[in-house]
Amino acid sequence: MQSASTTNTPQHVAIIMDGNGRWAKARGLSRSAGHQKGVETLRQVVRTAGEAGVQYLTLFAFSSENWSRPQEEVGFLMGLLKKFIKRDLAELRSENVRVKIIGGRENLQSDILDLLIEAEENTKQNNGLNLVIAFNYGARDEIARATKRLAADIKSGALLPEDVCEAKISSYLDTSDIPDPDLIIRSSGEQRLSNFLLWQAAYAEFVFVDELWPDFTKDVFHRALSTYCQRDRRFGGVESAKLIATS
Ligand code: FPP
Repeated sequence: MQSASTTNTPQHVAIIMDGNGRWAKARGLSRSAGHQKGVETLRQVVRTAGEAGVQYLTLFAFSSENWSRPQEEVGFLMGLLKKFIKRDLAELRSENVRVKIIGGRENLQSDILDLLIEAEENTKQNNGLNLVIAFNYGARDEIARATKRLAADIKSGALLPEDVCEAKISSYLDTSDIPDPDLIIRSSGEQRLSNFLLWQAAYAEFVFVDELWPDFTKDVFHRALSTYCQRDRRFGGVESAKLIATS
């Protein structure tokens, strides 16, 4: 994909795609129709991110809490994910997109798990945009799974308690090979994190846009990116990171 990266382009953008249901309701359509439209937006956002020079794009597609939705809606979302991978994988591969899935893999239907693995395997040679799909993902679940493995390594002697530090904990997370998000965007006017990337979001900038996810156009995305550019990131220090970089 074409890259028009500037120093101000966030390296990693993560998005909470919210508002499909409200978009559909406002039009007298089923929630499924909203999700269907949401996938079109998702495709456009992947293209726009690549063009803007974003290197990592993480999309919250299905949370570990979304299983509590009506069975029909869950089934529809599973079907959409399957269709998305089956239909779009070849294009993602040829567009040099590398796909990675984060989230719990235990207890997933075997056909879904196979598709997720296929998407990763089929694109692992690519070095363009990294598309990270958070599926069956919840940050607390991720931290609990990581802690379980870390504890097992301590028990077996593979890891010493004194070697546990922030970087070590990060290395046990699903995102071990992904930089922390610079920018987290949420659509639909809601202003919360909903158990998304809790550890990784420590220094992320947040941009909340009012548009519902199906209305999240290229322009809305560009507006969010330019809002990010105006932020002064200090990472707990006093001087602007930009000033330090240029002084
Ligand atoms: C939130 O809208 C959105 C989701 C729960 C899932 C996001 C899913 C998609 C964009 C389409 C599916 C794509 C794949 C690849 C699985 P909501 O239903 O919470 O909307 P509401 O808050 O208005 O009810």
